[in-house]
Amino acid sequence: MATIKAFVFDAYGTLFNVHSVIELCNRLFPGQGEELSEIWRSKQLEYTWLRSLMGRYVHFGKVTEDALVFACKHLELTLDESMKERLMEEYKKLRTFPEVPEVLKLLNGKKRVIFSNGSPDILKPVVHFNGLDDHIDDILTVDDAKVYKPDPKSYTVVLEKLHVKREEVLFISSNPWDAAGAKSFGFHVAWVNRNNKTMDELNQSPDIIVSDLYGVLQI
Ligand code: LAC
Repeated sequence: MATIKAFVFDAYGTLFNVHSVIELCNRLFPGQGEELSEIWRSKQLEYTWLRSLMGRYVHFGKVTEDALVFACKHLELTLDESMKERLMEEYKKLRTFPEVPEVLKLLNGKKRVIFSNGSPDILKPVVHFNGLDDHIDDILTVDDAKVYKPDPKSYTVVLEKLHVKREEVLFISSNPWDAAGAKSFGFHVAWVNRNNKTMDELNQSPDIIVSDLYGVLQI
């Protein structure tokens, strides 16, 4: 811990619950909210990986919208423009997991940073919506590298922006593939295993596993 200079948090799934959209999804498409949200999220991630492999980066707001369009088509739901706009607006109002505001406040005095695939157009509003502006010191995005996690070039943004070395970063993510990617890059990693998930078999074990962000306070 003595070497850690920055607490760097992943955003979606770690600080913000992407499935906060289920409520609006259910209002627009009764009974389909959960499935729509699941497909929306998994396609969103898949598109980040595919676009990185194809060398065809577009920002995360666009990827998220494309994934929503796919998910609706797949479930044979008619998504008109105003519904699409409402659902995309909802992405700026994702709720934090319950302990997040308190943990960020308690980490006051340490460097608290977000590093996310999220592009500023959707990431900054969700931080603001949740009243976290004063509890986050920096918001960093892969948009500066134009490639998505877990490409090593994406994690380099953290080093360049914070002027720290890899081993001076504690990267905190609930996404197993992101925890593995960050570990492979050389960060110290805390994996937040909220829902008893299974770690990916990528031969990259996190340094510590916590069940929610309170665990980070014990490190
Ligand atoms: C993020 C994705 C990985 O916030 O959830 O970067």
